[in-house]
Amino acid sequence: MANYYINAANKKSRIHKEIYGHFSEHLGRCIYEGIYVGENSEIPNVNGMRSDVVEALKEIRVPVLRWPGGCFADEYHWKDGIGPKENRKKMINTHWGGVVEDNSFGTHEFMEFCRQLGCETYVNGNVGSGTVQEMSEWVEYMTFNGVSPMADLRAKNGHPEPWKVDFFGVGNENWGCGGNMTPEYYGNLYRRYQTYVRQYNSDMMAAADDQGFDEEKKIRKIACGANVDDTEWTEGVMKTLFRHCDPRFHGNADGLSLHYYTHPEGWDIKGSATEFDEKTWYKTLAKTWYMEDLINMHGAIMDQYDPQKKLGMIVDEWGTWFTVEPGTNPGFLYQQNTMRDALVACINLNIFNKHSDRVKMACIAQMVNVLQSVLLTEGAKMVKTPTWHVFNLFKEHQDADLVESFIETTKIGEEAEYMVPNLSESASVDAKGRLHVTIGNLSVTQAENIDAHITGMEGKRVKAEILTNEMHAKNTFDAPDTVHSTTHDVKLTADGFGCVLPPCSVVHITVESSD
Ligand code: AHR
Repeated sequence: MANYYINAANKKSRIHKEIYGHFSEHLGRCIYEGIYVGENSEIPNVNGMRSDVVEALKEIRVPVLRWPGGCFADEYHWKDGIGPKENRKKMINTHWGGVVEDNSFGTHEFMEFCRQLGCETYVNGNVGSGTVQEMSEWVEYMTFNGVSPMADLRAKNGHPEPWKVDFFGVGNENWGCGGNMTPEYYGNLYRRYQTYVRQYNSDMMAAADDQGFDEEKKIRKIACGANVDDTEWTEGVMKTLFRHCDPRFHGNADGLSLHYYTHPEGWDIKGSATEFDEKTWYKTLAKTWYMEDLINMHGAIMDQYDPQKKLGMIVDEWGTWFTVEPGTNPGFLYQQNTMRDALVACINLNIFNKHSDRVKMACIAQMVNVLQSVLLTEGAKMVKTPTWHVFNLFKEHQDADLVESFIETTKIGEEAEYMVPNLSESASVDAKGRLHVTIGNLSVTQAENIDAHITGMEGKRVKAEILTNEMHAKNTFDAPDTVHSTTHDVKLTADGFGCVLPPCSVVHITVESSD
């Protein structure tokens, strides 16, 4: 039996809805086929966007979408993707499979997709191979409301109204595919490029003086952060951003990214998405839990420069990265998704919630058909993966307040190096005063009794929804509903609630204080 202590009155930090964000790159079948099929497709669509995909994504309340990359971003020249489609440049996608990129999905299409989803926009600019002028003009094209060369061009291309760019990434992985830079060199380029990411409308200009992630009126600028445990990068970039800079301006940034993927057998081998034993199950989950060490490690450096935590840590690429499905293009990164991915998502999202004082955004890689996708498509068919179901179970945490919680755990696993706590959890209270608890049981074999003790709130009603199955279970195009959530038995107790969590499960429990 595991005692679980929750103090619903001790609010810690807001769980920014952006923690439940997504990433979509011009990679494999993410954009083309997965999101965009074109207006003339027989697959039902609105302005070219697949209706089934839009509906499924709206259901999990996608809060923000990052685009166009990834590595693709630092080779993307935005003017190739505007104007009449027949005139758009055809190019080679050198990073991903060497296929032809016809640029039929560009800025207008991205903004239209976000409009249909009702989500915020996170555009990632090109520092690696683009110019300051190019970046500056893109921002002018997207956001300037008045008479200017770029605003006029936007109107000529059918969109007189400016769009809102909520977040702008100044480069991607500039320590690697984005230009192989040193941290100091990138830091200096960041300072220069971001200067010309102008806050055009008057509201934004007023807000710009008060730099920080929480200033929603302006374009929030994200600097390129580290890969995995590269603290030299974090230190070098932070030092360069804050040097010779008025401290009120927080390095002229609102966030610093972090990328960390879970690949059980290491970067070179990766490992199968669907065929694994219990040893690999625990190794995968232990490597996922490493995310918490990384947040603490990079967070400690950020704290030295930004003790008020105005800069968000932006984990804008996370998820499993396995060997591609047999018979598919290795450059397309298409992989299946099992209950193991569900537990990986549960662990990561609970960690992000717990660290929401610093982690203010996270984007799973990637949205459709690439890496740990929430949706997979094949022609007109679409399946919701186990990862989609976890996002659905966790969605009530969006913009709720994290509250103090602690659960008793035991260490489980098959190798000393890869032991994990048997349970992962986080708890929040939403604007209506409801308590939301998400717990994962990481054991493949053992059920766990949960005895929750709540202070700061008197529970009157409780309900639970669970996702559980055997560890290899997945949804396929022939059997799309093998893994799905169901209601679960949970009882109010004298001071909280009690339930049994079956092995290999993720649960969302809601406690209400009114009848
Ligand atoms: O998500 C796939 C790739 O992983 C991205 O393009 C890059 O940023 C990262 O290395």
